[in-house]
Amino acid sequence: MIRRNRILRTSPAIRAMVAETILRPGDFIAPLFIVEGENVKEEISSMPGYFRHSLDLTVKEAKELWSMGIKSVLLFIKCPDELKDNKGTEAVNPHGLMQRGIKAIKNAIPEMIVMTDVALDPYSTYGHDGIVEGTQIVNDVTVEVLSRMSLSHAEAGADFVAPSDMMDGRILSIRNTLEHNNFTNVGIMAYSAKYASCFYGPFRDALDSAPGFGDKKTYQMDYANSRESIKETLMDIEEGADIVMVKPALAYLDIIRIIKDRVTVPVSAYHVSGEYAMVKAAAKMGWLDEDKAVLEIMTSIKRAGADLIATYFAKDAVRLLQS
Ligand code: PBG
Repeated sequence: MIRRNRILRTSPAIRAMVAETILRPGDFIAPLFIVEGENVKEEISSMPGYFRHSLDLTVKEAKELWSMGIKSVLLFIKCPDELKDNKGTEAVNPHGLMQRGIKAIKNAIPEMIVMTDVALDPYSTYGHDGIVEGTQIVNDVTVEVLSRMSLSHAEAGADFVAPSDMMDGRILSIRNTLEHNNFTNVGIMAYSAKYASCFYGPFRDALDSAPGFGDKKTYQMDYANSRESIKETLMDIEEGADIVMVKPALAYLDIIRIIKDRVTVPVSAYHVSGEYAMVKAAAKMGWLDEDKAVLEIMTSIKRAGADLIATYFAKDAVRLLQS
């Protein structure tokens, strides 16, 4: 034998020396779920170990993340039922929970990168990402509301808006709106290749935002397709996206790689709620070592090409990296 591949696997030090993929705390984006109230910390039943927090506790959580080296948060709010409608009224309320959440975090930790989810589903009586007419999710009127929503997040101090709605033309419209209002430093992280996925189930429990009729297949992508992800992503970049996203992550590692090979902007991947729940469930049954699974999954997502990973395991991953 003249080649012994096992030499490079001999010891932990050698393996570390030749490791191609290294996770850093700054790779992670921590999603946060905000609810009204004070001192509220509610565990999400289908996401064990993950919570909805009121604003005061959200700020506390953000401070802890920052101290661990996690430098960005992605905000979601749970909208009270009585404020939901089919127009996104509450989504553009300058005093809405999201807008107050952005301000509270930026006040407490000015350097924290605050990203905000832009879509109508938490605010919609129908649980859809856009405005509903009959059985249709109408594109162009929705894009107008999403642009106003993005502007209100920018006004509250958001660093990045993250449109997750998959309407056509929304990135261009949001970019133009930000430009015309002088928010030239606000970035757009576009959910560009967002698939219609069953893995969003626990998230919809968290925000009580499951679609009331039908599904999201007329706007989110068909998981049978990969080339469509290129079309969507390249268009979003042309329209002004600063960061693009693939979602979900683990079942879509091929898509992350395809996108990474074709674009020059940072690529993020969202390890979504159902992917989190699967690991938690298997670990609870004693069928999987949770800590090892978390590191392997996160490393695989990064190896596939993700520069950034949004994940409910952000804190766990960083804790594991540091131990
Ligand atoms: C809202 C949105 C969803 C997620 C992020 N933003 C749900 C959906 O599209 O139905 C899912 C995140 C997760 O499952 O962790 N448009």
